[in-house]
This record gives sequence, C-alpha cells and structure tokens, in this order.
Amino acid sequence: MPLKYLSISDFRCFGSVEIEPGPRNNLILGPNASGKTSVLEAIAYLGRGRSFRGAPTSGLIRHGAAAFVLLGRVRQGRRTQTVGVRNSSAGLEVHINGEPASGAAALAEVLPLQIIDPEIHKLVAGGPEERRRYLDWMAFHVEHGYLGLWRRFRRALRQRNAALREGAGPDELVPWDREFCLAADELDAARERVLALAGAAMEGTGERLLGGSVGFEYRRGWIAGKSLQEALDGGLERDRQLGATQAGPQRADLRLLYDERQAQRLISRGQQKLLACSMVLAAAETVQTAVNQRLLLLLDDPAAELDAGSLRRLMTAVSSLGCQVIATALHPDDRIFDDPPALFHVEQGQLRPAG
Ligand SMILES: Nc1ncnc2c1ncn2[C@@H]1O[C@H](COP(=O)(O)OP(=O)(O)OP(=O)(O)O)[C@@H](O)[C@H]1O
Ligand SMILES: [Mg+2]
Repeated sequence: MPLKYLSISDFRCFGSVEIEPGPRNNLILGPNASGKTSVLEAIAYLGRGRSFRGAPTSGLIRHGAAAFVLLGRVRQGRRTQTVGVRNSSAGLEVHINGEPASGAAALAEVLPLQIIDPEIHKLVAGGPEERRRYLDWMAFHVEHGYLGLWRRFRRALRQRNAALREGAGPDELVPWDREFCLAADELDAARERVLALAGAAMEGTGERLLGGSVGFEYRRGWIAGKSLQEALDGGLERDRQLGATQAGPQRADLRLLYDERQAQRLISRGQQKLLACSMVLAAAETVQTAVNQRLLLLLDDPAAELDAGSLRRLMTAVSSLGCQVIATALHPDDRIFDDPPALFHVEQGQLRPAG
C-alpha cells in the first residue's frame, strides 16, 4: 500500500512541506537536525496515531503552533485512500476519505507500516512490553477480531485489578476471574496462532542476518502446565497485596535465543539490532502474506551500528519483501540501496526532491 503523497503542517521542525514518495525505494538525505527523523515520524503517526519513539503528542506540534495536520494519499489496488490526522490540545481527529474515523486502528488498516530506527535494539534488549506490542501488531493484522478481543481483555484486567484494590475476597472475585480467564485464553490462543504463522520467517530471517541459529520461545504469562485460574488462585495473596494481577497475557513475553544462549543478555549491540530487524521484517512478511498487500517500511538511519556486510544483508532482506521503503541517511554516498532510490533533501525546514 504505497504512500504516494504526504503533506505535513506544523509538525516538529516543519511549517508546511509535501513529499511524493516513489513506489519502491526512497532516500531522504540531510545533515543532523535537518528533519529526517521528523519526516518518518510524521508518516508513522499517520499510520499509527502515535509517535513511534513514544514522544508525547504535545511535543510533536511545532513550537508556537496550536495543532499539527498530516494528510496522506495511499494507493490500495486501483483505489486511492485519503488519510488525515489533526492533533491539538483537544486530542486526535482522524479522517479517512473525508469521513471522521475512530483513531489508531482505522489508520493502521489503511497505512500498515513498520519502522526500523536506531532504537530498534530495544525490541531485543528492552522489557517485554515492546515484544508484546510486536506480537499484538501482527495479531491485529492477521487475526480477524483481535482488536475487539484485546480491548475485552484489557477491560477484564482493569475490572479485576479494581476489585483487588477494593479488597475483594475470593468469592467476590469469581465473576471477574471468569471473564478475565475467558478473554485471556482467547488472547493467548490468538498470539500462539500468530507465532506459529510467523515463527519460520522469524527464525529464517534471523539466521540470514546473524549467521547463527536463532529461536523464539513464547511465554504466555503464567506458570506452565497450569490453567490461568489455577495460577490466579495460587497468586491471590500477592495480587491482593499489590492490587494488580500478576498472571496472564499482560505478562507474556518472547524469549529470544541466539546460538542457544539467551539473546537479551549476551549478544552485541549490532547483533541485537540485526535480531530486532529480523523480527520486524518477519512480521512485515507475515502480515503482507496474510492481508495480501505490501506494507510500508520506514528505515531511520539503517546504517547506524552496522558494518558494511551487516547492512548489505539487512538491505537484501528488506529488498526481498518488495515493499515501499522510505529510508534516511546523512550522506549521499552511504550505500543503502543497490539500485538508485528516489532521492529527497531536507534542510532548514524544506523537503525537496533531489535534482
Ligand atoms: N515540536 C518541535 N517544534 C520545533 N522544532 C522541533 C520540534 N521537535 C523537534 N524539533 C527540531 O526538529 C529538528 C529536526 O529533528 P530530527 O530529529 O528530525 O533531525 P534529523 O535530521 O533526524 O537529525 P539526526 O541526523 O541527528 O538524526 C531538531 O532541531 C529538533 O530540535
Ligand atoms: Mg534522526
């Protein structure tokens, strides 16, 4: 689903700029602090309704402005969809084809995208939340009804935690536990199915990028061999002390293995980046196959932390996805793509095609 047009108004360092990316490889060049990441951040916001760097929305509005506005045109088969986002202190407004739409999920369906930026190693080295979000992104696109299921689960978790904080005893928890366990088991089963679908691509891409055997073990968030209700019963005193449920899919994780060691602790920063990139590319591949559409891949300074051979392996794997790519680099002679990409320059608040 290539992005063929984007206009950015009052977003970070930009007053008003436009870009018409090419359908395959695009490279945005500019010196430090020129706005390269800001362009990708704007595109990512249009596809996710939030910052990919976790920045608060208020920090994305250009200093002195009241709101930012992003408008994109996305090709979907023969159709073109228009996506608009406006964000101010009043909150997020989303329009799709001129009609008001409801938030991030609607955006993600029109402009599904993935991002590799210099912080991507956190997917491997950071806490489990990033990896759960990763799993949930795949499941959202692959599993019909996943968003509804996820929301139902979050509601059940909130209700059970509220009951715990109010000092509910075992009998009073029964109805909350029942709904929590039903939603949790469904969510867990959906995550398992998605991993079964993506597992081979995750391992294959990991091995291609790292040159060693790579594995993933899913931890569902409660003790193996027990039902969730049994785990809740066993942890009741602790849950009551903490006022929060300690077992369930909200504690799930993906354990990453590289050469049969635990990847999170042992591999180098460059290897963490390659492992994280392989997860992102495998997720993109899995979703592309499931929805039968090409994704948009944003690469912010992909050369960072990688030697020439690693960068080449990464870009070969990127290229085999066949999706639209928008990358950034500091120097025109940074060899990122094999074939010449569509080039853009960003400097002093301006964004222009090169040449
Ligand atoms: N809300 C904002 N209003 C105005 N300027 C902002 C805002 N947020 C960020 N900036 C500025 O935008 C400029 C561009 O930042 P950006 O991160 O896009 O640069 P970059 O080209 O990616 O740099 P680097 O090569 O160092 O990664 C920076 O000078 C930053 O301070
Ligand atoms: Mg940057």
